[in-house]
Amino acid sequence: MDFKNIEISIENKIAYLIISRPKALNALNKETILELKKAVKILCEDRKVRVIILRGKGEKAFVAGADIKEMKELDQKEAKQFSLMGQRVFQKIEDCKKPVIAAINGHALGGGMELALACDLRIASEDAKLGHPEVGLGIIPGFGATQRLSSLIGKGLAKEYIYTGRSISAKKANIIGLINQVTKKDELMDKVKELAKEIVKNSPSSITKAKAAINLFDQSFLKEGLEKEAELFASCFKTYDQKEGMKSFIKKEKPQFKGEQGGK
Ligand code: CAA
Repeated sequence: MDFKNIEISIENKIAYLIISRPKALNALNKETILELKKAVKILCEDRKVRVIILRGKGEKAFVAGADIKEMKELDQKEAKQFSLMGQRVFQKIEDCKKPVIAAINGHALGGGMELALACDLRIASEDAKLGHPEVGLGIIPGFGATQRLSSLIGKGLAKEYIYTGRSISAKKANIIGLINQVTKKDELMDKVKELAKEIVKNSPSSITKAKAAINLFDQSFLKEGLEKEAELFASCFKTYDQKEGMKSFIKKEKPQFKGEQGGK
């Protein structure tokens, strides 16, 4: 299959899925999200594949978030559709019968961090920067972080990182359990492959069953939480702050927020 912003390959039962928009630091526009959906379906259904490794193209970024230039123009209804579109694709990753490992090779911000959160395991290179800068753009995370980040590191830390928008170093992310391992920059892919090979040695049906059971842990409230997140994310797109935040990012200026509530 021909993709514009995604590359896939399979080698020794391990699939490689690369998000490839390096000029925009692999930011997720609609086109890329739709391609990601197709790529995930292909690899999750391929019987030759036992583990999927997901990474970003280039040296600088895993994924620097949803595409702000595209989001800037969305109205409330379109923002809800955008949020649901991303959430559903990420849910397919979480529901995939095979383990998906995020190889975080640089910035994993906003929607990029949410993509990593939907994966089973996360390994980051020592220079990677993670975080949720959305509130500095006048919006909130809309691809699942309000639920999955809280589930992974606890509500207290999730609130701290989402409210401040602070970036998290790979070392810190490892300490708080946000990632499984931190590696030297040039060793990232070797370490990720090592982990994938360790998994491939085991019974694939047992791993599928273990994944299904572990995922049930927080599924009872995930669906409702994601619906609420999409609604609140969309309501940001009625506010002055969203317009100011995204315009300022594009102009490389500091935003001046007003703090209006906007529509529900
Ligand atoms: N959307 C669109 N374009 C982006 C982007 C994004 N998320 N992130 C980076 N880019 C673009 C930049 O605009 C720039 O393009 P130009 O060359 O045309 O100016 C190019 O990628 C390179 O980026 P920078 O020049 O900014 O590179 P830098 O090294 O100075 O900074 C960075 C790197 C800190 C990651 C910075 O690019 C940045 O802050 N990016 C935005 C991160 C962000 O806020 N992500 C969250 C988005 S909102 C979201 O994801 C919501 C959700 O939950 C669904």
